[in-house]
Amino acid sequence: MQTITCGTGRSYDIIVGRDIIDKSGELIRKVSQAKRAVIISDTNVAPIYADRVAGSLYSAGFEPARACFKAGEKSKNLNIISEFYSIFSDAGITRDDIIIALGGGVTGDMAGFAAATWLRGVDFVQIPTSLLAQVDSSVGGKTGVDLPVGKNLVGAFWQPSLVICDIDTLKTLPEKYFTDGMAEIIKYGCILSKSLFEKLENFEINSILEDVISECISLKVDVVEKDERESDRRRLLNFGHTIGHAIEKLQKYEGLTHGQAVAVGMAYITKAGEIAGVTAPDTYARLVNLLQQYSLPIEVKGITNKQLCTAAMNDKKCTGNSINLVLLKEIGCAFIERMGFAEFEGFIGL
Ligand SMILES: NC(=O)c1ccc[n+]([C@@H]2O[C@H](COP(=O)([O-])OP(=O)(O)OC[C@H]3O[C@@H](n4cnc5c(N)ncnc54)[C@H](O)[C@@H]3O)[C@@H](O)[C@H]2O)c1
Ligand SMILES: [Zn+2]
Repeated sequence: MQTITCGTGRSYDIIVGRDIIDKSGELIRKVSQAKRAVIISDTNVAPIYADRVAGSLYSAGFEPARACFKAGEKSKNLNIISEFYSIFSDAGITRDDIIIALGGGVTGDMAGFAAATWLRGVDFVQIPTSLLAQVDSSVGGKTGVDLPVGKNLVGAFWQPSLVICDIDTLKTLPEKYFTDGMAEIIKYGCILSKSLFEKLENFEINSILEDVISECISLKVDVVEKDERESDRRRLLNFGHTIGHAIEKLQKYEGLTHGQAVAVGMAYITKAGEIAGVTAPDTYARLVNLLQQYSLPIEVKGITNKQLCTAAMNDKKCTGNSINLVLLKEIGCAFIERMGFAEFEGFIGL
């Protein structure tokens, strides 16, 4: 078991280990005097883990209630948040009580947002059960929901009191979601850690999983500590995401998964960087090898570069007439280049 402390504002611990979900009650008790708790989970995760978490909370003196929603991104909306508020109200959740997110990134984003807004903010704990949630979404304090007009448009920065990362929960995670999380792990290697990238190249993932997850969490903690609100350093985490988001949007979120789209985004931008001479030679070949080693795509069919550029330039993160691109100098070292739209089109090869 390892503990990583995230020192943003009010600092909190991220505990990484195996088979620790049954200890969640006692771990949460150390950070909370709450009487009541609500476990928020989805229809895939709740049947596997909610009883164990509820039992552990009960043993630690909490009165656990539950809220369960239909698994999937489509549930990440304000109607479901409103249902959570009703459950909080019925359970008598006060400002001294606690909300527990048990599940993937969808659960964490929604439970965090509900906690941030109920009674103007109650404590919450993340128990991430998907690889993506463990290495990415459960740390950093971004919470929120989607609107019909776009993803993650409504939200709040709200830090958890504790994150309990039980690696053993990944045993029940379907393969395709594991692969999705691998794209984010490869991203961390690309932008921040050559040694992580090399580890992924040279070892079978299951033999290094706990270390790799802890390392990714530490890397993200380091970035968000230095830069709690979105600005330059945190923007590095968007590597592969400008084009990735554009692909997801053009395919109406029914084509490549997020991780697959990010993989293609990382490959495209690195190839363009190499052609432009700003990325070290051979970076693209190594990246492509690693992505393929983890069954991630490196290109997308049926979308032109022109469409990609237009979609990327319409992104909500795009301000004025320019775009912030995250590029690699070499493996393990990224930088941000602000480009005008015309320059961006040229860069990407129009
Ligand atoms: N807040 C942030 O900083 C941040 C960062 C990245 C992504 N996100 C958000 O995260 C979401 C994606 O996260 P995700 O991929 O975890 O999605 P998800 O929560 O939908 O989980 C993926 C699938 O795996 C299932 N699942 C999760 N853990 C399981 C387990 N242990 N066993 C069996 N099934 C399990 C879920 O029920 C779901 O079907 C998106 O909404 C995205 O916007 C947020
Ligand atoms: Zn991502």
